[in-house]
Amino acid sequence: MKQDVRKKTPEITKLILAAAKKARRETSREAEPGLTKPIHWPVDCNIGPGLEGAIACESRIGYVNGSKGWLIYRGYDIFDLCAYSSFEEVSYLLLRGKLPTRRQLEEHKKTLVEYRFLPNTVRHLLSFPVQEMNTMAALRIGCMMMRQVLSWIDQESSRPLPRTAIGTDEDSIPMETEPWGEEHAVYEFKRKERKRPKDARETQDAGSGLQSCNRLVAGLPTLAAAIARIRQEKLPVEPDRELSHAGNLLYMMTGERPSPLHERIMDVALILHADHGMNASTFAAMVVASTLSDIYFSAGAGIAALNGPLHGGANERVINVLREIGDAKHVKEWYRKARARKRKIMGFGHRVYKAYDPRARVLGPLAKHLAKKDRATAHLYETARALEKEVVSTLGKEGIFPNVDFYSGIVYAAMGISPSMFTPIFAVSRVVGWSARVLEYLENNRIFRPRAMYVGPLDQKFVPIEKR
Ligand code: SDX
Repeated sequence: MKQDVRKKTPEITKLILAAAKKARRETSREAEPGLTKPIHWPVDCNIGPGLEGAIACESRIGYVNGSKGWLIYRGYDIFDLCAYSSFEEVSYLLLRGKLPTRRQLEEHKKTLVEYRFLPNTVRHLLSFPVQEMNTMAALRIGCMMMRQVLSWIDQESSRPLPRTAIGTDEDSIPMETEPWGEEHAVYEFKRKERKRPKDARETQDAGSGLQSCNRLVAGLPTLAAAIARIRQEKLPVEPDRELSHAGNLLYMMTGERPSPLHERIMDVALILHADHGMNASTFAAMVVASTLSDIYFSAGAGIAALNGPLHGGANERVINVLREIGDAKHVKEWYRKARARKRKIMGFGHRVYKAYDPRARVLGPLAKHLAKKDRATAHLYETARALEKEVVSTLGKEGIFPNVDFYSGIVYAAMGISPSMFTPIFAVSRVVGWSARVLEYLENNRIFRPRAMYVGPLDQKFVPIEKR
C-alpha cells in the first residue's frame, strides 16, 4: 500500500483487537499434542466418513485448533495479522515462510502489481458467455486461460512501453481506463512482438514454481473483477498500479476508487480467507498437484471445490437465506420450520471448529461497523444476529457456531458487491493457501491415492445383452 491504509482506519484495528481480546478471554490458546508433532509413517488415526480425522501430510503453513477457535498462519495469530499486517505481507508469509523485510515486501508488491495485467487472458474470457455463467465457472475458465496464454503475451516482456506502442489494433481490448496523460493505452501491442513462440500453447515456466503462484495470486483478482463487470454489462476496468491488492480489487469491481475504510475492510477479509488447513478446496488442489500436474490446474481444482454450498459457496447462500427470512422478527418462525425440515443452516457448523470461528469473530463486528452507515446493511445484520442467537441457543452445545461464511457476505454487500461475486472473492484470497500448500507438498511429493472399501458383489456371471 502506498500510504498505509491501517493508519487511516484506527477504528478497524481497534475492532479487531477487541475481537482478539474477547476470543482470548473465552478460550485458551493451546496446541493439541496429537496434531502438532512430526509424523512417523505409517500414522495411526481414527478416520470417519469424509476423511474426518485423517492425517494427510505434515505442514508448517497454518494450524487450526478447532476446540479453542484458534487460527495461526506460520505461527502468527490471525488476529495479529488482521490488525497489523496487509494481504500482500500475509501472502509473502504464507508462500515464503517468513515475514518479509521492508525491501522484500516492496519487491513482492512490485511483482504482484506487474502480474495484475492480463489483457490477453481477459480478452479470451470475454469470448465466453460470462453474463450467463456461474461466476466460479467463469473464474475457472479464466484460470485455465492464464495457463495457456499468459506466459507469452501477458508477460511484461511482451508488453510494449507506452512510448513504443503502435495505435489500437484488433488485439487491443476495450477497457475503462482513466486518462493518465499517456500518449497510448497500455494495452496496445507492437505487431512485430506478436509472434507466437513455438511452445506458446502451454505456459513457459512449467507452471509449478513460485512465479506461477504469484501470477495466480495477482491475476485472479483481475479475472474476478472482469467477470463482475461483464455481468453488470460494463467493460472491465484496467488495474491501477497505485492501489493496494485489496484496493485495486474493489476498484476493478466497482469502477470507483475505494474509501480507506472499504480498502482496509477488504484487506482484512482477504487476510482472513487466505488459508485454512486441509479444507476441501486445498485438498483438491493438492491432489491435482500430487500427480505432477501444474499449479494452474491445481488452482482450477481449488476453484471447483470451493464453489460448493458446503464450502465457499455458502457465503452467497447466506445472503439468500437472510433475504428469504426478510426481517429479524421473522427469524424464530423461519428457523422453527427450517429445523423441522432438517435444513442445514448456511454459514453455521464446521468440520474442525467446535468453538466460535475466529474469522467470524472479526467479520461479525466488521459487518456491524458497516451497518452503522447504511440501512440496508443494518437490516441484513440485524436479521443475521437474530439468526445467530437462535442457532447458537439450540445447536451451540453441539459445537455449531457461525463460520467464516456467515458474515462475509454482509460485509461484501455493504461495499457494493453482488452476491454472485462472494465466492470468487473467497477464491481470490484462498489461492494463496492453495499455492503455499501445493509448493510445500511438492517438496516431498507422493501421489495421493487412498482406497475405497469394496462392498459390491464379487462373483457376477456376465450375461449377454440379449439375455438381460
Ligand atoms: C467453509 O474446512 C474448512 O476449513 C472450510 C472453511 C475454509 O476456510 O476453508 O472454513 C470454509 O467451507 C466453511 C463452511 C461453509 N459451509 C456452510 O456453512 C454450510 C453449512 N454447514 C454445514 O453443512 C456443515 O457444518 C459443514 C459442511 C461445514 C461441515 O460438515 P461435517 O463436518 O460433515 O458435519 P455434518 O454435516 O456431518 O454435521 C454434523 C452434525 C449433523 O447432525 P447429526 O446428524 O449428527 O445430528 O451437525 C449438524 C448436522 O446436521 N450440522 C448442522 C449444520 N452443520 C452441522 N445442522 C444445521 N445447520 C448446520 N449448518
